[in-house]
Amino acid sequence: MGRRKNNNNNSQSSMNITNTITRFQDEEDDTTVSSNLEDSVTAIDKATEDEAMCDADVSYTDADDDKTSADYYFDSYSHFGIHEEMLKDVVRTKTYQNVIYQNKFLFKNKVVLDVGAGTGILSLFCAKAGAAHVYAVECSHMADMAKQIVETNGFSDVITVLKGKIEEIDLPVAKVDIIISEWMGYFLVFENMLNTVLYARDKWLVDDGLVLPDKASLYLTAIEDAEYKDDKIEFWNNVYGFNMSCIKKQAIMEPLVDTVDQNQIVTNCQLLKTMDISKMAPGDASFTAPFKLVAQRNDYIHALVAYFDVSFTKCHKLMGFSTGPKSRATHWKQTVLYLEDVLTICEGETVTGSMSVAPNKKNPRDVDIMLKYSLEGRRCSASRIQYYKMR
Ligand SMILES: C[S@@+](CC[C@H](N)C(=O)[O-])C[C@H]1O[C@@H](n2cnc3c(N)ncnc32)[C@H](O)[C@@H]1O
Repeated sequence: MGRRKNNNNNSQSSMNITNTITRFQDEEDDTTVSSNLEDSVTAIDKATEDEAMCDADVSYTDADDDKTSADYYFDSYSHFGIHEEMLKDVVRTKTYQNVIYQNKFLFKNKVVLDVGAGTGILSLFCAKAGAAHVYAVECSHMADMAKQIVETNGFSDVITVLKGKIEEIDLPVAKVDIIISEWMGYFLVFENMLNTVLYARDKWLVDDGLVLPDKASLYLTAIEDAEYKDDKIEFWNNVYGFNMSCIKKQAIMEPLVDTVDQNQIVTNCQLLKTMDISKMAPGDASFTAPFKLVAQRNDYIHALVAYFDVSFTKCHKLMGFSTGPKSRATHWKQTVLYLEDVLTICEGETVTGSMSVAPNKKNPRDVDIMLKYSLEGRRCSASRIQYYKMR
């Protein structure tokens, strides 16, 4: 089966997430983890972890060894490069623009809070759509640029940029009518920015206010991926004649963010979890969901693949986008979880199991995943629990 889609861009075609939050733009085309998951799936108190992180870019140089992923997280958002990549993700940015411009009735004379404003692009869209006032909150140093951008484009009277963490700033108004945010991370919940949106919602949103987007769903499917699994995982078995399989154990635990060709898909796609951002509690981002994947042909399964979609259900017509392998690629790509076993599956047979997802206790921006799967097939039977960590 063919390898990944060939990404025609400046970025690498696949990545493990360790120590980088760099986002990628795609071409246009359609050891403690186990214990954490077993006793967690509880809400994490973000406040403890996030303290003092918003001033990240200068203050961490002497203490690089102690950096958490959260530190890298805010560092990365201070540089324009990550914003360039997000802005150039046309699926992402154009969807927000269309949602706002094609639904001006939602924004007219409304007070909007832009959670994690970055360059201020969503605030500018809202201002142009007729919002009475927009509060653009950004904790990285990109807030300074956002202020200039707002001024340069003549929106200073409508947009107020506030530099600081949502959890710490004083908003000049008691309530807002709309909260807009692009908070989604790889595997939907990596980065854990959703909790920041929920915090803002509970503190400032009027009772009948809008959260945009208001729905996000995570999906799972299974793929044939022999070639790439060999390259990324089995590689460590024999490196120039030496056994480095201890690294293989680590490699298989790290989900890989990469584009998957739809021809690699062997089973149906199963909805794992839908989050209603307007109603959910912070703890709801941790969950265990069962799945049943039915093979659509005789093939081998090497990995499960997760992806998400988001929707704006309060628009005149339902709007949103998918990050799935059958949709036009986004910088979120898909998230590939390699299996220890190669599953020889016949058409109609099922891989059943469950996936548990929770923020890592030590670094809540990291994600711990527990996958249980089993196949009782004619040609193969396997049953296993695997632990993964996105960091
Ligand atoms: C995914 S980017 C989106 C940027 C911009 N809204 C856009 O659509 O291009 C998320 C932004 O939220 C900021 N951010 C994350 N957590 C935050 C928090 N707790 N308070 C304020 N800003 C935050 C990050 O620094 C980053 O710039």
